[in-house]
Amino acid sequence: MSLVKQIKDTFLQVFNSDPQIIAKSPGRINVIGEHTDYNNGFVLPAAIDKGVYIGLSAREDDQIELFSIDYNEKYTTDTTSLIFGKELWTNYILGVTRILSKQTDAIKGYNLVVVGDVPLGSGLSSSAALTCATSFSLGKLFNLNLSKLDIAKIGQQTEHEAVGVRCGIMDQFASVFGQDNSLIKLDCRSLEYEYIPIQLEGYEILLLNTNVKHSLASSAYNKRRESCEAAVALVKEKYDEVDSLRDVTLAQLDELVKPVNEEYYQKARFVIQENERLLKATEALKANNITTLGKLLYQAHWALSKEYEVSCEELDFLVDTVSTYPEVAGARMMGGGFGGCTINIVQKGKSKAVIEKLTDLYFNKFSLNLIPIEVSISNGTHEIY
Ligand code: GLA
Repeated sequence: MSLVKQIKDTFLQVFNSDPQIIAKSPGRINVIGEHTDYNNGFVLPAAIDKGVYIGLSAREDDQIELFSIDYNEKYTTDTTSLIFGKELWTNYILGVTRILSKQTDAIKGYNLVVVGDVPLGSGLSSSAALTCATSFSLGKLFNLNLSKLDIAKIGQQTEHEAVGVRCGIMDQFASVFGQDNSLIKLDCRSLEYEYIPIQLEGYEILLLNTNVKHSLASSAYNKRRESCEAAVALVKEKYDEVDSLRDVTLAQLDELVKPVNEEYYQKARFVIQENERLLKATEALKANNITTLGKLLYQAHWALSKEYEVSCEELDFLVDTVSTYPEVAGARMMGGGFGGCTINIVQKGKSKAVIEKLTDLYFNKFSLNLIPIEVSISNGTHEIY
């Protein structure tokens, strides 16, 4: 059954009515440029066909009633208390509601049903899909006139305030601004962006889900961000014009960070070099030079693993193994790290063979199923009706 139909049927069952709005916001992939967004750098994501769907209706009172189809769970609160439930999905929806309620008194009681098909913990940003779908549909229902950028920023703020992950803007931006068959080259400092048509002539994208999500992910994420900020602070002591790693050169790191703190140095150097890799990868993509693109992906992976230290055994194993396959041009871990998927650039029609070769190897090593995820590049947040 389609997810839209599931929303409608469930709405009828739980709330005895039809939703006034159904909206969808997608998950995302990212070709290259990891951990650069919160350092004002560049990213190269795209929205995918998989996403989060929300059905929503206004109520006469100030109750908020939420129903998650995936968790088969109902949760009720009201517009004054806005207390989060035990499960994280309520934090995201109510976190968005809290932020909007501080900005306007237009938010009244509502009924909401949510469902999604972004595999959870896969690094495809189901949480950005959820927060963006929520703010978009609440914005429509209560006539808030939110711009696309407002929606992305509210999603990011929710992640900071309601979940405690100090993420950048990449996931939410990609979810909202995604465009069919295009990557988004986003400058996270100016928020200027460019759509780059994805034309991997002779190649296709294959995502392989490790099926692990290591629990230290969110605290380690914040710790990396702190190391980058500490490096910036050290450079700023001498070069006051510097506000983020985007403004910092490798020479400045060598001069001011390396002698003081090797950890900060290593993390900051990774970010500067990852931005350089992204710029080269963008050129390679535009020239349809898949060999160069692939090499940059491998380089990015091992830098994420050995220098930024956000990979894990399972991700490393997958990337290491495919690097011996001639039909794979490049691969790397994708997203925040510590689990989730790898993104692989594979010769057209060869994905199935790659999956077949890897599945047993992966299971024998980790006793885990390797899960291939098929995605296509699609439009961002939109109303279904
Ligand atoms: C997570 C965050 C993003 C970004 C990536 C790493 O997905 O939500 O903001 O920092 O990790 O590139």
